[in-house]
Amino acid sequence: MSITSPQEQAGMQAVSEAVALTLKKMHDFAQVGMNTLELDEYGGKLMQEMGAKSAPRLTYKFPGWTCISVNQEIAHGIPSRKKILQEGDLINIDVSAELNGYWADNGGSFVLARDIHNYKPLVEASKKILLKAIGQIKGGVKIAEIGRFIDLEARKAGYKVIKNLTGHGVGKSLHEEPHEIANYYDRFNFDRFKKNTTVAVETFISTKSSYAYQANDGWTLLGKTGGLVAQHEHTILITDKQPIILTNSNGIEGF
Ligand code: CO
Ligand code: CO
Repeated sequence: MSITSPQEQAGMQAVSEAVALTLKKMHDFAQVGMNTLELDEYGGKLMQEMGAKSAPRLTYKFPGWTCISVNQEIAHGIPSRKKILQEGDLINIDVSAELNGYWADNGGSFVLARDIHNYKPLVEASKKILLKAIGQIKGGVKIAEIGRFIDLEARKAGYKVIKNLTGHGVGKSLHEEPHEIANYYDRFNFDRFKKNTTVAVETFISTKSSYAYQANDGWTLLGKTGGLVAQHEHTILITDKQPIILTNSNGIEGF
């Protein structure tokens, strides 16, 4: 969305803070032996206490307050009593919400407890790439160039990117213009980032797959050719200098 007043900026700051704190606290709460429904209900309670409403539930009737994706699941994992977190799991929590008419989105992947499967390098690469990419975004920059940058950095680190999952505009709804902030150079995308707008930038750094597909449950996204994916996401306010990271307090750099 376009920020045209201090009130709108304050509204975006408030909802971003709510999703950021929920994500951070869910990350800290996750432990071996816990099921993902418990973790989701904890997150749902936190959002409710802050007056925020789950965006995926509100927008898409998603069966959960947050998306919790484990190991081979890339995104939109459904919280379930049957999914019990294990040591060394690659976990992604994505939290998005509406508060007072404003919407924000953030997410992060992390390894639970000891990294017995050596998933950490993938997580570290994704975090680093997100922050570097955000550092290059300002009004006037071509969206496709940021995609090129993410793809290049992923390759340099020995990984791929998922091409059919993207960042997006956010603010007046969960997904709005610009609709696609891809992780690769999309030569058909001529759009540029605009000053004073809010967008959600997210990485999808992958070990094997280049495309995601939807599982039979109608929600969960998996890699077409397998492997693992790490995702990190911030809602940012674009300026003509460095963007303001509105979801900064999620602490995903420390995940
Ligand atoms: Co998200
Ligand atoms: Co998003």
